[in-house]
Amino acid sequence: MDWKNKIIFLTGASSGIGEALAIALAKRGATLGLVARREELLKALADKCKQSGGQARYFAVDVTDAKAIAEAADSLRNEFGRIDVLIANAGIGGNNSETRNFNAQAVTEVININLLGAVNAVAAVLPAMLENKSGQLVAISSLAGFRGLPKSAAYSASKAGMTAFFESVRLDVQDKGIDVTIIQPGFIKTPLTSGRANKMPFLMELEDSIPHFINAIERRKKFAAFPWQLATIVRLARFFPASLYDKIAKRASFRE
Ligand SMILES: NC(=O)c1ccc[n+]([C@@H]2O[C@H](COP(=O)([O-])OP(=O)(O)OC[C@H]3O[C@@H](n4cnc5c(N)ncnc54)[C@H](OP(=O)(O)O)[C@@H]3O)[C@@H](O)[C@H]2O)c1
Repeated sequence: MDWKNKIIFLTGASSGIGEALAIALAKRGATLGLVARREELLKALADKCKQSGGQARYFAVDVTDAKAIAEAADSLRNEFGRIDVLIANAGIGGNNSETRNFNAQAVTEVININLLGAVNAVAAVLPAMLENKSGQLVAISSLAGFRGLPKSAAYSASKAGMTAFFESVRLDVQDKGIDVTIIQPGFIKTPLTSGRANKMPFLMELEDSIPHFINAIERRKKFAAFPWQLATIVRLARFFPASLYDKIAKRASFRE
């Protein structure tokens, strides 16, 4: 994949996976539209991307604001002619105690950002991609979307929804020149996971995870799940009967 010719719209760029991915792609010469809410972080990242050999523009917008996301995508497209790749990465883990207490507003916030924010990003890029008969939609979903995880109702629901949404979209657009890549990582050391005291199985260093994301995008994989150990367990767990799943999953709590 020649990243030098690629125009990428990346949400959730200001920290963690998005930030590391932006720098890695800039080093390969890509042009990036960086989206998140914290403007200062985006500005510093855009400078870093330029120093690394790429081009970057930044848009301090909230993914839940469909109009603002559409305007950001328009602005990038107007300047560079098209958007080749959307990486829908913006997301939050959700506040454990609030989602555990079934606070509907807290659950709504997680789903609004993680799922509907990704939908807004797709809506902002897909019509022009269909017109060009070319493009790639990348969803940063999660292994947490395979089955409901303990103390993670909002997060698991948002990621299950994200996986299903992008898979359905793929069925509708794959014959029209558009690839859809759904990436399902396990645990990665980022600000999202840093506050957790409980053990996270097969926790990955951020920099070790980045080649997995890039490889999945370059190879236009339909699905990519990693690390392989946790991905295998989670895939197998899909076929466990509910009584067995409940026993194992309850004990495997990774959120306090
Ligand atoms: N870390 C893991 O173990 C792991 C595993 C599987 C999947 N993931 C997924 O990977 C993605 C990135 O997570 P991360 O671990 O890198 O977490 P992170 O460091 O907390 O980054 C989250 C990013 O999303 C942005 N964001 C959050 N809410 C937003 C909103 N309303 N509008 C625009 N941007 C928003 C944040 O920027 P602002 O706050 O500046 O807006 C930040 O740039 C998430 O979708 C997460 O679910 C993470």
